[in-house]
Amino acid sequence: QIRRTTVPEIRARKGGEPIVSLTSYHAHTAAIVDKYADFILVGDSLGMVMHGMDSTLGVPLDLMIMHGKAVVRGTQSTLVVVDMPFGTYEESPAIAFRNAARIMKETGCGAVKLEGGARMADTIRFLTERGIPVMAHIGLTPQSTNVMGGFKTQGRNEDSWPQHEADAQAVADAGAFALVLEGMVEPLAAKITKQIDIPTIGIGASVECDGQILVLEDMLGLNAWTPKFVKKYGDLGPAIERAVSDYAEEVKTRAFPTKDHTY
Ligand code: KIV
Ligand code: NA
Repeated sequence: QIRRTTVPEIRARKGGEPIVSLTSYHAHTAAIVDKYADFILVGDSLGMVMHGMDSTLGVPLDLMIMHGKAVVRGTQSTLVVVDMPFGTYEESPAIAFRNAARIMKETGCGAVKLEGGARMADTIRFLTERGIPVMAHIGLTPQSTNVMGGFKTQGRNEDSWPQHEADAQAVADAGAFALVLEGMVEPLAAKITKQIDIPTIGIGASVECDGQILVLEDMLGLNAWTPKFVKKYGDLGPAIERAVSDYAEEVKTRAFPTKDHTY
């Protein structure tokens, strides 16, 4: 019987074999990723990638739950982590618990992720002590884009490093089982990785991180524009376009369907 990777197993990978992770938002892609990833993140980036929103801020909790369910159904061996969307956890630990519990009960996922460092430490502890494993996320935190004034690489000025280091330490001390470092200069991500005793998961961060994550659609080449940190492992955009245009042509010329495709 296949069983899923557990939170303690991810936690124990600190300093070991790098942790492989990707986002997935729907059952069929998740089933492929399931064969190779240690965990799958149902990220709130689905607001942009799947639903054409221009930031993650408008993503509703119900939408995260809907995609979380799809990914849990489509997978059998990876840990599924679901993002808590903007506005569902910042206000208080109790509100965060209520919403995180809904995510876990309704999707069957194994953990949640939320953005923020020291300011979220009390919430991370509150959730973890009550049965909800938390992955933390610092550096470039897209839910704070209005405060940061856009998507800005963090740590360019070394004066800011102590704050990022303190954030990383605070979430580790609070019981987070892993920490996403996003959009952060490489030496800072490497330094934080050495300093804390939970795995760091890099995205636009450092090869020294304990694992890496990318948005699946980005690395497959499905999005028109991708930032520097995205390596394109596939070029599905043109492949899909070719298939759609071939189909359109064959429908118009009555080349499809043939006897092979009719009863
Ligand atoms: O929402 C997301 O896809 C994420 C990853 C980029 C870490 O949070
Ligand atoms: Na996210």
